[in-house]
Amino acid sequence: MNISLSPWNKLFINLHAATMADTSVPYGAVRDAAIGVKNGKIAWIGKQKNLPDAPEKLAKEVMDAKGHWLTPGLIDCHTHMVFGGQRADEFARKLQGESYESILASGGGILSSVRATREASLEELRETALERARYAMSQGLTVLEIKSGYGLSLESELKILRVIKELRELLPITIKATCLAAHVVPPEFCDRRGAYISLICEELLPQVKQENLASAVDVFCEKIAFTLEEAEQIFQAAQALGFDLKIHAEQLSSLHGSSLAARYHALSADHLEYLTESDIIEMKASNTVAVLLPGAFYFLREKQIPPLELLRQHQVPIALATDFNPGTSPINSLSTIMNLACVLWRFTPEEALRGVTLHAAQALGLQATHGSLEVGKNADFAFWNIETPAELAYYLHGRACSKLVTHGEFIKFN
Ligand code: NIG
Ligand code: FE
Repeated sequence: MNISLSPWNKLFINLHAATMADTSVPYGAVRDAAIGVKNGKIAWIGKQKNLPDAPEKLAKEVMDAKGHWLTPGLIDCHTHMVFGGQRADEFARKLQGESYESILASGGGILSSVRATREASLEELRETALERARYAMSQGLTVLEIKSGYGLSLESELKILRVIKELRELLPITIKATCLAAHVVPPEFCDRRGAYISLICEELLPQVKQENLASAVDVFCEKIAFTLEEAEQIFQAAQALGFDLKIHAEQLSSLHGSSLAARYHALSADHLEYLTESDIIEMKASNTVAVLLPGAFYFLREKQIPPLELLRQHQVPIALATDFNPGTSPINSLSTIMNLACVLWRFTPEEALRGVTLHAAQALGLQATHGSLEVGKNADFAFWNIETPAELAYYLHGRACSKLVTHGEFIKFN
């Protein structure tokens, strides 16, 4: 608690805050709290009875939150939200017993989304993605990461990244773009994998950097996608250009892409069903966040559960994200994801909320400004008409927030 010089721009009173900052009490909760905002930042937070003066003397605007709970704005740190088409037919085929891998090998799967995304115009992609992002905001989201990866050509990857840039200009939330040109090898390059990697490293990434279209680079390291050696080649080029790094690793098998990511000080390694203890030790040493994606686990009917207990023991920060995409996780709700993590993997509701706030911020390199309610951080938060924060992980269908604030201002989300 720190009292900055008054007046504040806004003071919210009569609320309960799940600050996620203090781990000594569940949810870092402060009941009967108030929060003061100045210049888009949190200027004061604490028990209302400890306010240094009468509310109307402290701020230009005083707002009664009517006993609602306040959380940090939710953060979806792993999505593929810009895509054309849908894959409901493939869903039906999978239910008949075809595997995700064999559908991809027959030219479907990711490649069918690539065809639909290449065919769609920038405007069409922008409109569908806008609708998806607004829906996520209605569920309390204030920070969104979006990956490219359904273009797989210079022109189409740039188109997706430009859509993400337009979304950033259109929406009052924080949007981080990640280049996932290394999602799978496109059919045109199936006999020339090296040439596709050179295209990424020598042409695409320099242009993405030059136009400032992404801050991170991701690689899908898996038998059906890129090998460990290929992932390393892309990491080297990306790091030399100053990108942050991320990886899709150990989703379907153990290739130790997460250890590679740790050696390159990647922000996060994501999926991780087949993660080993040695991977975990390397991730801990490099502060690489474990981003777990229960939506893909559920939708692919996977059996292998990520090693949650070992991650806890080694105190690796664990984030949760939707992985929202048309093939393996058609789920655009962080509350649904929290529920899946609790029911399928035995997360506690508190761990789940930390996974979509503080730890998700760290997975995007934003922990200094986002992810918890602390003095000096951005005034980005969601109000909820709930009795206890565990309710956020309780409804499988997700939960609409009652109000959303970014940079200290109310934002519209519907
Ligand atoms: O994160 N794992 C790789 N990529 C996506 C799925 C892509 C797709 O099937 O369209 C994922 O699950
Ligand atoms: Fe993904």
